[in-house]
Amino acid sequence: MTVNPKQLAGERAAEYVEKGMVVGLGTGSTAFFAIQKLGQRVLEGIDICGVPTSELSRRQAELENIPLIGFDQITRIDLTIDGADELDPHFNLIKGGGGALLREKIAASLSDREIIIADESKVVAHLGAFPLPVEVIPFGWKAIQRRLAELGCHPALRRSRDHAPYLTDNGNYILDCDFGRIDDPPALEAKINAICGVVECGLFIGLTDRIIIGKTDGTIEERTR
Ligand code: 5RP
Repeated sequence: MTVNPKQLAGERAAEYVEKGMVVGLGTGSTAFFAIQKLGQRVLEGIDICGVPTSELSRRQAELENIPLIGFDQITRIDLTIDGADELDPHFNLIKGGGGALLREKIAASLSDREIIIADESKVVAHLGAFPLPVEVIPFGWKAIQRRLAELGCHPALRRSRDHAPYLTDNGNYILDCDFGRIDDPPALEAKINAICGVVECGLFIGLTDRIIIGKTDGTIEERTR
Protein backbone atom coordinates (compact mmCIF):
# COMPACT_ATOMS: atom_id res chain seq x y z
CA MET A 1 0.00 0.00 0.00
CA THR A 2 1.40 3.42 -0.91
CA VAL A 3 1.59 5.98 1.86
CA ASN A 4 0.89 9.63 1.33
CA PRO A 5 3.54 11.55 3.33
CA LYS A 6 1.35 14.65 3.49
CA GLN A 7 -1.47 12.60 4.96
CA LEU A 8 0.87 11.07 7.53
CA ALA A 9 2.03 14.50 8.67
CA GLY A 10 -1.44 16.05 8.63
CA GLU A 11 -3.06 13.26 10.60
CA ARG A 12 -0.26 13.17 13.18
CA ALA A 13 -0.60 16.93 13.74
CA ALA A 14 -4.34 16.56 14.33
CA GLU A 15 -3.50 14.32 17.31
CA TYR A 16 -2.07 17.37 19.12
CA VAL A 17 -5.50 19.02 19.20
CA GLU A 18 -7.19 18.79 22.58
CA LYS A 19 -10.72 19.32 23.84
CA GLY A 20 -11.77 22.97 24.03
CA MET A 21 -9.02 24.31 21.76
CA VAL A 22 -9.31 27.13 19.25
CA VAL A 23 -7.45 25.68 16.25
CA GLY A 24 -6.00 27.58 13.30
CA LEU A 25 -6.76 25.67 10.10
CA GLY A 26 -3.99 26.07 7.54
CA THR A 27 -4.28 25.99 3.78
CA GLY A 28 -2.98 23.61 1.12
CA SER A 29 -2.83 19.96 0.18
CA THR A 30 -1.12 18.97 3.46
CA ALA A 31 -3.38 21.02 5.72
CA PHE A 32 -6.26 19.34 3.88
CA PHE A 33 -5.45 16.06 5.66
CA ALA A 34 -5.22 17.72 9.07
CA ILE A 35 -8.64 19.33 8.56
CA GLN A 36 -10.07 16.02 7.35
CA LYS A 37 -8.76 14.26 10.48
CA LEU A 38 -10.12 17.04 12.70
CA GLY A 39 -13.48 16.52 11.04
CA GLN A 40 -13.32 12.86 12.11
CA ARG A 41 -12.41 13.89 15.64
CA VAL A 42 -15.35 16.31 15.76
CA LEU A 43 -17.61 13.47 14.61
CA GLU A 44 -16.22 11.38 17.47
CA GLY A 45 -17.20 14.15 19.88
CA ILE A 46 -14.21 16.43 20.49
CA ASP A 47 -15.31 19.98 21.19
CA ILE A 48 -13.10 22.42 19.23
CA CYS A 49 -13.44 25.61 17.24
CA GLY A 50 -11.60 26.19 13.95
CA VAL A 51 -10.21 29.43 12.53
CA PRO A 52 -9.79 28.97 8.76
CA THR A 53 -6.90 30.73 7.03
CA SER A 54 -8.55 30.76 3.60
CA GLU A 55 -11.94 30.47 1.94
CA LEU A 56 -10.85 27.05 0.64
CA SER A 57 -10.13 25.77 4.13
CA ARG A 58 -13.31 27.36 5.43
CA ARG A 59 -15.35 25.47 2.83
CA GLN A 60 -13.62 22.19 3.66
CA ALA A 61 -14.09 22.71 7.41
CA GLU A 62 -17.77 23.48 6.89
CA LEU A 63 -18.18 20.23 4.94
CA GLU A 64 -16.43 18.43 7.81
CA ASN A 65 -18.87 20.05 10.28
CA ILE A 66 -16.05 21.65 12.27
CA PRO A 67 -17.48 24.57 14.30
CA LEU A 68 -15.85 27.78 13.08
CA ILE A 69 -15.02 31.16 14.48
CA GLY A 70 -13.73 34.23 12.60
CA PHE A 71 -10.58 36.26 13.21
CA ASP A 72 -12.73 39.15 14.40
CA GLN A 73 -14.05 37.04 17.29
CA ILE A 74 -10.73 35.89 18.77
CA THR A 75 -7.65 37.40 20.33
CA ARG A 76 -5.61 34.20 20.44
CA ILE A 77 -5.44 30.71 18.98
CA ASP A 78 -4.29 27.66 20.96
CA LEU A 79 -2.73 25.79 18.09
CA THR A 80 -2.42 26.31 14.34
CA ILE A 81 -1.63 23.48 11.94
CA ASP A 82 -0.35 24.61 8.56
CA GLY A 83 1.80 23.56 5.61
CA ALA A 84 4.88 25.20 4.09
CA ASP A 85 6.64 25.54 0.76
CA GLU A 86 10.13 25.41 2.28
CA LEU A 87 11.48 24.92 5.78
CA ASP A 88 15.07 25.34 6.91
CA PRO A 89 16.97 23.86 9.90
CA HIS A 90 16.25 27.02 11.96
CA PHE A 91 12.45 26.63 11.62
CA ASN A 92 12.29 29.50 9.12
CA LEU A 93 9.70 28.99 6.39
CA ILE A 94 8.57 30.16 2.99
CA LYS A 95 4.80 30.04 2.71
CA GLY A 96 2.19 31.37 0.35
CA GLY A 97 2.40 28.95 -2.56
CA GLY A 98 -1.34 28.50 -2.08
CA GLY A 99 -1.88 32.26 -1.83
CA ALA A 100 -3.08 32.33 1.79
CA LEU A 101 0.06 33.77 3.39
CA LEU A 102 -1.54 36.84 4.96
CA ARG A 103 -4.26 35.05 6.92
CA GLU A 104 -1.82 32.22 7.67
CA LYS A 105 0.65 34.70 9.13
CA ILE A 106 -2.04 36.45 11.17
CA ALA A 107 -3.08 33.03 12.52
CA ALA A 108 0.55 32.11 13.30
CA SER A 109 1.12 35.43 15.07
CA LEU A 110 -1.94 34.86 17.27
CA SER A 111 -1.09 31.24 18.04
CA ASP A 112 0.38 29.87 21.25
CA ARG A 113 1.73 26.98 19.17
CA GLU A 114 2.27 26.51 15.43
CA ILE A 115 2.77 23.04 13.97
CA ILE A 116 4.06 22.90 10.41
CA ILE A 117 3.32 19.78 8.40
CA ALA A 118 5.13 18.79 5.22
CA ASP A 119 6.63 16.03 3.18
CA GLU A 120 10.40 15.67 2.76
CA SER A 121 10.47 17.71 -0.45
CA LYS A 122 9.92 20.87 1.59
CA VAL A 123 13.02 20.44 3.76
CA VAL A 124 15.92 22.61 2.55
CA ALA A 125 19.30 23.72 3.90
CA HIS A 126 18.66 27.33 2.83
CA LEU A 127 15.45 29.09 1.85
CA GLY A 128 15.06 30.56 -1.61
CA ALA A 129 14.73 27.89 -4.29
CA PHE A 130 10.97 28.42 -4.01
CA PRO A 131 10.10 31.96 -5.20
CA LEU A 132 9.02 34.02 -2.20
CA PRO A 133 5.34 35.07 -2.41
CA VAL A 134 4.74 38.73 -1.53
CA GLU A 135 1.15 39.99 -1.22
CA VAL A 136 0.77 43.56 -2.51
CA ILE A 137 -2.13 45.91 -3.05
CA PRO A 138 -3.22 46.05 -6.72
CA PHE A 139 -2.92 49.86 -6.86
CA GLY A 140 0.53 50.77 -8.14
CA TRP A 141 1.71 47.17 -8.17
CA LYS A 142 4.28 47.80 -10.90
CA ALA A 143 6.00 50.39 -8.74
CA ILE A 144 6.04 47.91 -5.87
CA GLN A 145 7.42 45.28 -8.26
CA ARG A 146 10.31 47.63 -9.15
CA ARG A 147 11.07 48.30 -5.46
CA LEU A 148 11.15 44.55 -4.81
CA ALA A 149 13.45 43.99 -7.81
CA GLU A 150 15.87 46.53 -6.27
CA LEU A 151 16.26 44.10 -3.36
CA GLY A 152 17.81 41.60 -5.79
CA CYS A 153 15.00 39.41 -7.07
CA HIS A 154 12.89 38.77 -10.13
CA PRO A 155 9.28 39.45 -9.05
CA ALA A 156 6.65 37.81 -11.26
CA LEU A 157 2.97 38.70 -11.01
CA ARG A 158 1.04 35.53 -10.15
CA ARG A 159 -1.71 34.83 -12.64
CA SER A 160 -4.83 32.69 -12.60
CA ARG A 161 -5.62 30.04 -15.19
CA ASP A 162 -7.44 32.64 -17.34
CA HIS A 163 -4.23 34.73 -17.23
CA ALA A 164 -5.87 37.50 -15.20
CA PRO A 165 -3.89 38.54 -12.11
CA TYR A 166 -4.39 36.02 -9.30
CA LEU A 167 -6.43 37.58 -6.49
CA THR A 168 -5.95 36.56 -2.87
CA ASP A 169 -8.90 36.10 -0.51
CA ASN A 170 -8.15 39.68 0.55
CA GLY A 171 -8.46 41.05 -3.01
CA ASN A 172 -4.71 41.62 -3.40
CA TYR A 173 -2.06 40.53 -5.92
CA ILE A 174 0.90 38.24 -5.33
CA LEU A 175 4.38 38.86 -6.68
CA ASP A 176 6.46 35.66 -6.65
CA CYS A 177 10.00 36.83 -5.98
CA ASP A 178 12.88 34.65 -7.06
CA PHE A 179 15.75 35.72 -4.79
CA GLY A 180 17.81 32.56 -5.11
CA ARG A 181 19.43 31.55 -1.82
CA ILE A 182 18.23 33.73 1.08
CA ASP A 183 21.13 34.09 3.54
CA ASP A 184 19.44 36.34 6.09
CA PRO A 185 15.67 35.69 6.18
CA PRO A 186 14.85 38.14 9.05
CA ALA A 187 16.72 41.01 7.34
CA LEU A 188 15.01 40.30 4.03
CA GLU A 189 11.59 40.12 5.68
CA ALA A 190 12.16 43.54 7.27
CA LYS A 191 13.26 45.11 3.96
CA ILE A 192 10.32 43.69 2.01
CA ASN A 193 7.70 44.63 4.59
CA ALA A 194 9.11 48.19 4.73
CA ILE A 195 8.07 48.79 1.09
CA CYS A 196 4.88 50.82 0.96
CA GLY A 197 2.14 48.81 -0.73
CA VAL A 198 3.48 45.45 0.45
CA VAL A 199 0.85 43.81 2.63
CA GLU A 200 2.93 40.83 3.83
CA CYS A 201 5.59 38.44 2.62
CA GLY A 202 5.74 34.67 2.90
CA LEU A 203 8.79 34.51 5.18
CA PHE A 204 7.71 33.01 8.51
CA ILE A 205 10.45 33.63 11.06
CA GLY A 206 10.27 32.48 14.68
CA LEU A 207 6.62 31.48 14.36
CA THR A 208 6.99 27.69 14.29
CA ASP A 209 7.26 25.44 17.35
CA ARG A 210 7.07 21.97 15.86
CA ILE A 211 7.66 20.51 12.41
CA ILE A 212 6.15 17.19 11.39
CA ILE A 213 7.59 15.61 8.26
CA GLY A 214 5.84 12.68 6.64
CA LYS A 215 8.14 10.38 4.66
CA THR A 216 7.59 8.11 1.69
CA ASP A 217 8.84 5.11 3.71
CA GLY A 218 5.86 5.56 6.03
CA THR A 219 7.79 7.09 8.94
CA ILE A 220 7.24 10.47 10.54
CA GLU A 221 9.95 12.82 11.80
CA GLU A 222 9.10 15.42 14.42
CA ARG A 223 11.31 18.37 15.27
CA THR A 224 10.70 20.73 18.16
CA ARG A 225 12.24 24.16 18.60
C1 5RP B 1 -0.66 28.30 1.33
C2 5RP B 1 0.57 27.76 1.91
C3 5RP B 1 0.71 26.28 1.94
O1 5RP B 1 0.81 25.89 3.27
C4 5RP B 1 1.94 25.88 1.17
O2 5RP B 1 1.81 26.37 -0.14
C5 5RP B 1 2.11 24.36 1.17
O3 5RP B 1 1.09 23.78 0.43
P1 5RP B 1 0.97 22.21 0.21
O4 5RP B 1 0.68 21.62 1.55
O5 5RP B 1 -0.16 22.07 -0.77
O6 5RP B 1 2.26 21.72 -0.36
O7 5RP B 1 1.46 28.45 2.35
O8 5RP B 1 -0.62 29.70 1.28
